[in-house]
Amino acid sequence: MASTQDALYRRIDLDLSWSERDLPERERTKHVHRLHPYLGKFIPQLVEALLERHVPRGRVLDPFAGSGTTLVQALESGYDACGADVAAFNCLLMRVKTGEYNPFVLESELRDALGRLEAFDGKRPDGTVSRFVRDWYAPQAAAELLFFRGLVEDYEHADVLRIVLARAARSARRTTHFDLDFPRTPQREPYWCHKHKRECRPVGEARRFLRRYALDTLARVREFARVRARGREASVMHGDARELDFGGRFDGVVTSPPYPGLIDYHEQHRYAYELLALEDCGALELGKGASQAALRGYVEGIAAVLVNVRRHLRSGAPVVIVINDRRELYPEILSLAGLRLEERYRRHVNRRTGRRAGEYFEDVLVAR
Ligand SMILES: C[S@@+](CC[C@H](N)C(=O)[O-])C[C@H]1O[C@@H](n2cnc3c(N)ncnc32)[C@H](O)[C@@H]1O
Repeated sequence: MASTQDALYRRIDLDLSWSERDLPERERTKHVHRLHPYLGKFIPQLVEALLERHVPRGRVLDPFAGSGTTLVQALESGYDACGADVAAFNCLLMRVKTGEYNPFVLESELRDALGRLEAFDGKRPDGTVSRFVRDWYAPQAAAELLFFRGLVEDYEHADVLRIVLARAARSARRTTHFDLDFPRTPQREPYWCHKHKRECRPVGEARRFLRRYALDTLARVREFARVRARGREASVMHGDARELDFGGRFDGVVTSPPYPGLIDYHEQHRYAYELLALEDCGALELGKGASQAALRGYVEGIAAVLVNVRRHLRSGAPVVIVINDRRELYPEILSLAGLRLEERYRRHVNRRTGRRAGEYFEDVLVAR
């Protein structure tokens, strides 16, 4: 006969393992969650369920906040939140997602920038163009992106325009349609496209992406403004979560740390670092490499983050960690951090994209 504990696990599994039909992609990427692609995020419905179950109220912390899923959902669910990330682009994205805007000013700024882009004659930029831009963009796409970049500073909501620029810069790269995540070399010639089952050509311009994404951003920011709880705030901190002072006390943590050797979180947005001249703190990013030494560094690094996090928690506050710990590193990490595992449950992850399809599970660890 199954124990009470097993029965509890099964119930939780059922709750958190949504199928495509239960939870279609447009729900998982609703409003600002889709302002910019980000590989390796969790879904807002998972955060919503975990907050509801484990953090009754108050302030939520995510020390590995990434694209800001925890922050956005916390605001929607009526919590204050703080998110930290070592990658400058992720912090920019989070600030834009969680910012509050005067909708009229935002709309008039985006439309004004689009009007100026429309009138742009396509002239090559003055001065030198970086090697990255020359390699990864067709001349027309490069001219349009650099022109738009030159406008950004003129506006109060410059960061929103920066995100539009980054998203367009991602789409306008000389890549194949099926390798947008980590393209290795620029694709300059027509190619056989596995995704569309026909010959495709690399992109030659950026204007249409800038336009499409500016309008999409406006709609998504407005949609989020309608559902976020009034009077709740999110703060974003850029830095190494081993050392940051997160400010004040928190009622719970909901986070998904990086995992060894899986995703380089700076590299996936290389175009944004190049175009926006953002500070690269890649050397401080945890989870790079999977050698024995790298794994040791990972265990100690994540434990150090959790020790730092504990200093900022109210007594008894839960630390909820979402991870696929296939190397079983987390028992040691939690013990080094002085945390005790209270619950561990498994959820089935519904993966949409063809190249990453296949069964995938992750664990939710609840520790104190
Ligand atoms: C799995 S992702 C988090 C994704 C997030 N849950 C979301 O939905 O967008 C892990 C994040 O940890 C960040 N990170 C890695 N090392 C870090 C460090 N030392 N301090 C703070 N953040 C770090 C990475 O930049 C990455 O964005």
